[in-house]
Amino acid sequence: MITVGIESSAHTFGVGVVEDGKILSNVKSMYKISDKGIIPMKVADFHQKNAARVIRRALKESEAERIDAIGYTKGPGLGPCLRVGQLSALTLSRITGAPLYPVNHAAAHIEVTRHLFGLHDPLVVYVSGGNSQILGLENVPRRHYHVYGETFDIGVGNMLDSFARAAGLKPAWGSSVARLSEGGRYMRMPYTVKGMDFTFTGLLTNAIGLLKSVDKRDVAFSLQETAFSMICEAAERALLLTRKREVIACGGVAQSTRLKKMLGLMAGSHRAKFYAAPDEFNSDNGAMIAVVAEKMHSNARRSSGTMDYGVKQRYRIEDFDIYWR
Ligand code: FE2
Repeated sequence: MITVGIESSAHTFGVGVVEDGKILSNVKSMYKISDKGIIPMKVADFHQKNAARVIRRALKESEAERIDAIGYTKGPGLGPCLRVGQLSALTLSRITGAPLYPVNHAAAHIEVTRHLFGLHDPLVVYVSGGNSQILGLENVPRRHYHVYGETFDIGVGNMLDSFARAAGLKPAWGSSVARLSEGGRYMRMPYTVKGMDFTFTGLLTNAIGLLKSVDKRDVAFSLQETAFSMICEAAERALLLTRKREVIACGGVAQSTRLKKMLGLMAGSHRAKFYAAPDEFNSDNGAMIAVVAEKMHSNARRSSGTMDYGVKQRYRIEDFDIYWR
């Protein structure tokens, strides 16, 4: 069975092809972010110009001779960008006759990690630009990813981006903050964890304020350590509560070497194993959408109802049925 996945929730237009669980191709075209951040309509224009080329290249690289199913990112994400991926998928579905599957972006980051390592039931630390959540699979009222804890304000990725802009750094911001923090010294910063939830804006405001008077490296280092420690504490509480044996990190910020090291230490101290997929799958990509769409297609009879082939900017992960597991 051959499945195509199309991702376009933010600055990446990605197309992946999967055959019976094996990733055959994973092609991306990324909009270059300016110092001002993302302007959704401009990114959508960029996606529209590149969509056909990326789809053709992914199909060519995969050497696929037919398409059995097509997945696309329904949300969460930027409306105009999501719309380009959805329309590309609809068009491809019309041409090939292959059925269409709308996929939740966050669930795709989790499922591709689970798929690559053959994991059954991990505790999930999902850390991206727009979101930061501690998740795990629950069966009631239907199988879905339950949110044990999450950010009350902004995602850790957007927090690092905002700091990087204020510090005059260049994109990609997460990695520029990491580079700047090398050799920095730790100073106390606002640390806010309530149970398994956390907030980042107080920390961000404090860090930006310190840029005028303190060495930038010390501010970057302390900001990163404090934010990642908050995530680790929330994840540790969830791990003790759920008694899961595996922990994964996924999403854009899961490319951070420092965060992975901290989560690995935390998991190891409770005899749990820690996993994170290669960066290719933690940055946005089409293969993760194809992996989920293939599972949805193979288990279509277990699906609870009719599918909505639209887009949803604020698509909560709890609302996405994981009916194939
Ligand atoms: Fe993502």
